[in-house]
Amino acid sequence: MTADFFTAMIVEETEEKNYPIRIGTRSVKDLPPGEVLLKVHYSSLNYKDALSATGQFGVTRKYPHTPGIDAAGEIVESSDSAFKPGDKVIVTSYDLGMDTPGGFGQNIRVPAKWVVPLSAGLSLRESMILGTAGLTAGLMVEKLVRNGVTPEQGEILVTGATGGVGSIAVAILAKAGYRVIAATGKASQKDYLLSIGAADVIGREEVLLKAERPLMPERWAGVVDVVAGEMLAAAIKSTRYGGTVTCCGLVGSREFSVSVLPFILRGVSLLGVDSVQCPMELRRIVWKKLAGEWKPENLDSIVRECTLNNLEKEIQAILKGQLRGRVLVNLLES
Ligand SMILES: NC(=O)c1ccc[n+]([C@@H]2O[C@H](COP(=O)([O-])OP(=O)(O)OC[C@H]3O[C@@H](n4cnc5c(N)ncnc54)[C@H](OP(=O)(O)O)[C@@H]3O)[C@@H](O)[C@H]2O)c1
Repeated sequence: MTADFFTAMIVEETEEKNYPIRIGTRSVKDLPPGEVLLKVHYSSLNYKDALSATGQFGVTRKYPHTPGIDAAGEIVESSDSAFKPGDKVIVTSYDLGMDTPGGFGQNIRVPAKWVVPLSAGLSLRESMILGTAGLTAGLMVEKLVRNGVTPEQGEILVTGATGGVGSIAVAILAKAGYRVIAATGKASQKDYLLSIGAADVIGREEVLLKAERPLMPERWAGVVDVVAGEMLAAAIKSTRYGGTVTCCGLVGSREFSVSVLPFILRGVSLLGVDSVQCPMELRRIVWKKLAGEWKPENLDSIVRECTLNNLEKEIQAILKGQLRGRVLVNLLES
């Protein structure tokens, strides 16, 4: 049995379209319908949570709202025979934390089809150090692998490398045997990036060198891009013959501009990644790899832990691109 009330982050919407944040109490009875009620042990902060928590247009429509697109914990009640009380599980994305109360609360209720059993090899805490950022990085590496990019083919560029998706991508690519070149705007974080597996660290300006040209010198066998804009365009133009570029993010821009030349003269592939509606079968495959062959040795050096009480300042920092690695939210101590 769970308590009738729980602690959660609550984002209000004022008539002036301000979005004040407070930590308050919510009732389990007010959670939406769903087969599975979860006691959340850990959540994590993703860029999208910051957009939801600050009322960015088109992210969350219904306020008051509890953000948190990630949650890991133990099942309290399940009306679906696939799950039973006590099972340790992960829920990420779908509508969690968008218009469905999310992981920045100690309970969530969700459809059983959103729930992934925790893979052997991962603790609940580790699963949320990875979280949606880890799943997304894993999906991007899976795309590179499935498109035939092997470690022997050359270097992999990771942009936005000190961020959540970037850090985990660096770590799992290195674990999978790739030579990773981490591109960052934070020169001071070179040692961090080398410590999590980068073979070399370059500034954003090096990626953009000669980017005014339709084609740049061939360098990358593969790319993991979270930035878009001019970084993605330059990465495509400098990808080697037959190479693969994966993209998932828009921290730099929603747009990018390239000619067709990299695609028709070098056979470059550009593959998008979506973690939200990603099919369950693929989700389970990637979580298994994240718990096994790709599991970073150094997860603890990628993470900083907080409770609900000090989460708001992390939300402001992620919006400014100032965070390093991942922020784990401990709901057991909130
Ligand atoms: N498609 C999906 O399913 C999916 C899933 C998860 C995330 N995403 C998206 O992926 C992106 C990254 O998410 P995240 O959680 O990793 O965010 P994050 O932790 O804030 O990391 C983003 C990193 O990008 C770099 N950056 C920030 N602003 C930049 C700018 N203006 N120009 C160039 N680089 C900039 C910074 O790294 P450096 O200082 O090291 O350069 C920053 O740490 C977001 O757009 C997010 O919405 C998409």
